[in-house]
Amino acid sequence: MGITSRKEEHVQLVTEQDVNFKNRTAGFEDYMFKYDALPEMDFQEVDPSAMFLGHRLASPLIITGMTGGYPNAEQINAGLAEACELVGVAFGLGSVRAGIEKPELRSTYSAARSAAPTIPIIANLGGAQVAEWNVSGSLLENCLTALDFTKANALAVHVNPLQELLQPEGEPRFKGVLSGIEFLVHQLPVPIIVKEVGAGISGAVAHRLAQTGVTIIDVAGAGGTSWAGVEILRQDGQTSLMEFWDTGIRTTDCLLECRGVVPTLIASGGVRSGTDAAKAIALGANIAGAARPFLKAYIDGSVNGSVDGGVAAVEQILLKWDLDIRRWMFLTGSATLEALANSLRKSD
Ligand SMILES: Cc1cc2nc3c(=O)[nH]c(=O)nc-3n(C[C@H](O)[C@H](O)[C@H](O)COP(=O)(O)O)c2cc1C
Repeated sequence: MGITSRKEEHVQLVTEQDVNFKNRTAGFEDYMFKYDALPEMDFQEVDPSAMFLGHRLASPLIITGMTGGYPNAEQINAGLAEACELVGVAFGLGSVRAGIEKPELRSTYSAARSAAPTIPIIANLGGAQVAEWNVSGSLLENCLTALDFTKANALAVHVNPLQELLQPEGEPRFKGVLSGIEFLVHQLPVPIIVKEVGAGISGAVAHRLAQTGVTIIDVAGAGGTSWAGVEILRQDGQTSLMEFWDTGIRTTDCLLECRGVVPTLIASGGVRSGTDAAKAIALGANIAGAARPFLKAYIDGSVNGSVDGGVAAVEQILLKWDLDIRRWMFLTGSATLEALANSLRKSD
């Protein structure tokens, strides 16, 4: 199956079936906020804004990379990006490989920038491609082409050995990925973000990335969308692969291991509410994000049953998450996101 139809199948599958981790969570329920009865501030003074890629986000949130490269993806990327622009948060595109290889598909990615002229937009490429193109000598040219048609502010490289291994058409070839990332860090005019896709970045991996000069990591940990699960369902729930469904490092553990290793840490993977996002920031993240909940909202609504999908549904969730982050800041006496740092304790 070509990448174009695979990307379409992924979107259909994750919106129609249960692809969450089965017996593991991202870990946010293990923590609760320390309530402060004397916050010494007015709720209106709480400032959840965050600097990211040289922009000030109104709220420390991102919709992480999902799609592009087939006709219907154009509307999805435009819609999700428009909602991000309305709220003032960041937006990630799915892998831009299809657009690099087929110029006629580039509008499925560039639609995001057209819909969102001012927010940070992040292009995306697989680690396996980075390694392969680094060897063939086409890596820099291909990435510059992608930055040109996406008008992105950064390039995310996704490292996803679990997914590549289980995907029938996968490319589990990771030899040379790190040197490809290092090459990009030094050659590209925009920052490189390294992310997983839901199995998590450990502290040890974060240190190896930091040594190559990577400054932004999205841990994309375990507990939300299981890409092993997606690939198992694509193969009719093949039982011989079931034991891989829940593979990965939970998002909260990733954060504890990775905090302080790079200047900017993004928390994603199983972040499902503004409360989760606020806890992720209290655990060391600068920005929190999610993927599947926003795609589902865009496609089938499901926000309290009150809004039919589309831009309004995505905007409504982002605004609710933003409000809940500000509520937790007030209730812990944290005027800024930095002040949230000491606001958690282990749940009873
Ligand atoms: C339909 C879909 C497609 C995705 N495609 C990509 C991709 O092309 N590149 C990437 O880095 N991550 C991709 N992801 C992974 C997400 O960015 C995210 O890391 C992962 O889904 C975990 O977050 P969640 O639990 O909030 O869904 C995709 C996720 C979904 C749901």
